[in-house]
Amino acid sequence: MNTISLTVNGVAQVLDVEPTETLLESIRERLLLRGTKEGCAEGECGSCTVLVDGEPVDSCIYPAAGCDGRSITTIEGLAVDGALAPIQQAFVEAGGVQCGFCTPGFVLTLHALLEEAPAPTDDDIKTALAGNICRCTGYAQIVEAAVRVRDGRAS
Ligand code: FES
Ligand code: FES
Repeated sequence: MNTISLTVNGVAQVLDVEPTETLLESIRERLLLRGTKEGCAEGECGSCTVLVDGEPVDSCIYPAAGCDGRSITTIEGLAVDGALAPIQQAFVEAGGVQCGFCTPGFVLTLHALLEEAPAPTDDDIKTALAGNICRCTGYAQIVEAAVRVRDGRAS
């Protein structure tokens, strides 16, 4: 076991993790934050995306032991006092959610993009989403959600 100290959604945590444990396992099974989804479990689909120090990572292949001292944001950490983050609100308005399985990963990926570059081009948005797969929406509504935030149209 390795003992790591980290912050998850603004809350300090100390966890004993196995040497082979992934961040996804720590989040879902130790912290019981089940908004982060496991799809492929091999770094291909993006459904397990969380932010590590503000950067999107595939938590299914990210070692938990590498999170000592880091700040993690999961989908549960985006809304503040029950108010959705702009990109969450925009997903609702644009119809970017169908079954919802991929949604936490897409939302966190786009949240990170918009934090880093508040005025991304449409191509920037599509490039940022290259590691996220959605089986339902056809992607247009998801891109539209990011465009709404960029253009100040997310209410
Ligand atoms: S579950 Fe992690 S990338 Fe698919
Ligand atoms: S909304 Fe179903 S996989 Fe994306």
